[in-house]
Amino acid sequence: MNYTLITGASSGMGAAAAIRLSQTRRLVLASENIVQLEAVRQQCVNPESHILWHCDFAAGRGTIFSSLTDLIGAKDIKIEEYAHFAGVSILLPVKNFTMTYVDKVFNVNFFSIIEILRVLLKKTNGGMLKNIVLISALVSERGNIGNSIYAASKGAINSLVYTLARELAPKTRINALLPGAIMTPMTANLDSEYLKEMEEDSPLGFGTPDDVVDYVEFLLSEKSKWITGQTLFVDGGRSTK
Ligand SMILES: NC(=O)c1ccc[n+]([C@@H]2O[C@H](COP(=O)([O-])OP(=O)(O)OC[C@H]3O[C@@H](n4cnc5c(N)ncnc54)[C@H](OP(=O)(O)O)[C@@H]3O)[C@@H](O)[C@H]2O)c1
Repeated sequence: MNYTLITGASSGMGAAAAIRLSQTRRLVLASENIVQLEAVRQQCVNPESHILWHCDFAAGRGTIFSSLTDLIGAKDIKIEEYAHFAGVSILLPVKNFTMTYVDKVFNVNFFSIIEILRVLLKKTNGGMLKNIVLISALVSERGNIGNSIYAASKGAINSLVYTLARELAPKTRINALLPGAIMTPMTANLDSEYLKEMEEDSPLGFGTPDDVVDYVEFLLSEKSKWITGQTLFVDGGRSTK
């Protein structure tokens, strides 16, 4: 049976995508927080038809590859679509970064994608992968003080999209969305002064998770069948600055 893999499905935009896409698809929902992931599954249409994949994307290299390979084999499934929402962001000036933190941000935001693609493009997945949507960020293209490592990890996603669009065509499409300020648990923890600045910087104010999910749904649909290799701002106009 064919499935859509959604990482970061326990929270924010990934959870909103899971609930929306469950109306039309069978899903593999991934995150580290299994309790929260199960809570999201219960909000989906036909909860029993969706599979949970419990995996810590911050764990060492190779963990994700073996965990996903095992899951696909054990459940006898194929992944046809892949939407990557998993991400971590901590605002810190570059002088305060430890390499442990750098590793965590790059493992969750970028290297996890490589490991997942290595599984989904191999025989294990039977050549079934048709469509990939990666969640990057506006800050990958615009400077933002305190966000250097996070921005670099998202910039790596953009580069991946340009090259893989050519390498994987015509069988598989790949695109990235670059959200601006979206109100989710990730942003809710920021201090109020910073949140005010983010809002004032966005001509259309804060976006909602569903504002991004609308574009994920579009990119996974036949309506976008001639679009690949794009990095699209979904940012309420914030990138105009
Ligand atoms: N919110 C914004 O304004 C904004 C703007 C631009 C881009 N983005 C990007 O949009 C994506 C979704 O963000 P969000 O705002 O919806 O944030 P969120 O609510 O904090 O969700 C982040 C998701 O990533 C997962 N994740 C984090 N660390 C993980 C790990 N070690 N292993 C596996 N999964 C892990 C979380 O799962 P657990 O519950 O298991 O930790 C959670 O499901 C992220 O890639 C983020 O960088 C957000």
